[in-house]
Amino acid sequence: MCGIFGYVGAGANPEVLIEGIKRLEYRGYDSWGVCVACDDQLTMLRRVGRIGGVDAADLDLGGKGCLSGIAHTRWATHGAPTEANAHPHADCTGKIALIHNGIIENYGSLREKLRAQGHRFRSETDTEVIPHLIEELLKSEPSFDAAFQGALRLLVGAYGIAAMWAEDPGAIYVARHGSPIVLGLGKDRTLVASDPAPLVAHTREVIYLDDGELAILHCDGFETRTLEGASVNKRVQQIAFGLPDIERGGFPHFMLKEISEQPESIHNAYRGRIVRAEGTAKLGGVDEALLRKVQRCHIVACGTSWNAGLIGKYLLENLARVPTQVSYGAEFRYSHPVIEAGTLVIAISQSGETADTLAAVREAKIVGADTIGVCNVVGSTIARECGKGIYIHAGPEIGVASTKAFTSQLVVLSLLAVHLGRMRGLSLRAGLLYLDALERLPEQASQLLADRERIAEIARQYARCENFLYVGRLYEYPAALEGALKLKEISYIHAEGVQAAEMKHGPIALISPEVPTVVLAAQEEIRDKMVGNAHEIRARGGRIIAVTQEGDREMEGLAEHTIHIPKTLDPLVPVLGVIPLQLFAYSVAIERGCDVDKPRNLAKSVTVE
Ligand code: F6R
Repeated sequence: MCGIFGYVGAGANPEVLIEGIKRLEYRGYDSWGVCVACDDQLTMLRRVGRIGGVDAADLDLGGKGCLSGIAHTRWATHGAPTEANAHPHADCTGKIALIHNGIIENYGSLREKLRAQGHRFRSETDTEVIPHLIEELLKSEPSFDAAFQGALRLLVGAYGIAAMWAEDPGAIYVARHGSPIVLGLGKDRTLVASDPAPLVAHTREVIYLDDGELAILHCDGFETRTLEGASVNKRVQQIAFGLPDIERGGFPHFMLKEISEQPESIHNAYRGRIVRAEGTAKLGGVDEALLRKVQRCHIVACGTSWNAGLIGKYLLENLARVPTQVSYGAEFRYSHPVIEAGTLVIAISQSGETADTLAAVREAKIVGADTIGVCNVVGSTIARECGKGIYIHAGPEIGVASTKAFTSQLVVLSLLAVHLGRMRGLSLRAGLLYLDALERLPEQASQLLADRERIAEIARQYARCENFLYVGRLYEYPAALEGALKLKEISYIHAEGVQAAEMKHGPIALISPEVPTVVLAAQEEIRDKMVGNAHEIRARGGRIIAVTQEGDREMEGLAEHTIHIPKTLDPLVPVLGVIPLQLFAYSVAIERGCDVDKPRNLAKSVTVE
């Protein structure tokens, strides 16, 4: 989704701004733009496509330095990805420039009114009404500051905004309502961004704006206040990661780096949380009293996090006997779910910014449910609005396809299930057995990663197929959905995850030599059933790639290729089983020449509903 970066103070120059938005590329975008203030002039550059290949010299500043600048990556919503629609957008005079993330819902009526007042529009975007509104209000308001605030009060919708005014080139005006804004506090410079990634090159000290707040940034500091004008004191927080965490570090792609980091990220998800003596987990962000009164859980999430949520349901029901429902973030509000007393709503989100999941959290709070977040990004909106939660500590995930966050989510959900289970009669022995298995996962994940070349070789043989099925049951059914999602999003191959027993109720009609099936069959409890499903596929001429535990000769006999995963407990099978699926999808996409880190049409953090 769109990205914002702004910089005021020492060292401001076009290169720094372009470097800043390059660090936001992972969010997904289709056009970009930069605006710098030098003397009392604003100079802009806007382009369609990737930032790579363009250098800052394209911004002709006539040899002068700049005082401040804003830069943006746009993921088109209102209007096609064209230069005219790329941000920044300016007012009629060219003295106000503004970048925006989010959607202004009442832009149509505002635009009509502004047009009638003589304003000329040059784009199809919702954003462009904002600089014109400020321009209009400047005619009657005493200051830019007042006009900026006045304009914000007229907007309906979601925004994260950064604006500049040619007559005050040493300031950037920012505001947040529903779309994240984080300030970076450097020595003799102040920065703004839509997430902390572009800030770490300059500072680790940050401030997260809350909805309804605005800030004015100068080189030596900033002031924050509410839209109503009341000043607010903000807490300075430290970014927990450094520059190496958001760089590729020798890997050809972030996705491969992140897949390869899983032994460590899985470990970080349970590190310091296992209480061996009691066979349980210590989850600092969620108080005991809250967990003791839980009678049912309702998980809300989207995409990969939703797939993790489906596994979470099985974990919570099997280990803790807590009835659990899973909803898409986008469905929760509109399906009017029954939320009874004692319901704990668990929001799972890597980014902590997904608009649909956030909307579900807000709805859950309105109907009086307790909410906890299972998020990766510390200080993200969902984490903050839930108030309580369990961070997965996977480290920055830059590749658009979620990989290490998924396995870390599963580990954290397992800890929660064991903890709730121990409160509700899960035996000490069972708890310990489970925790022991969890602690073996990092080493087992390393073993799987060592098989990377062989998986790449298998992938090469299937890379030209245009349709795939992934089948699994129980814990491996959501893993099948996740495997299919990984393949389709980065290689653009149509792939479908199917509950294996459901095959004969329809999808088996798709089986042919051209439609290979990935059969997930590593759980002991339903192994025989999976063998039966594999026979049915083979009998119809289907080709099988099987993911099984070591030594399953029968499945090996049915499959064209077999990938073995190390032995673990059934509920933990997806943590290991998904790793070869991630590697498989990655290798297929590379073979097809796809841009795995920036797949077409996708955004890393989906901040619009
Ligand atoms: C798929 C993927 C998406 C996200 C989804 C939710 O690889 O990354 O499906 O899982 O957009 O994002 P978060 O977890 O940030 O809420």
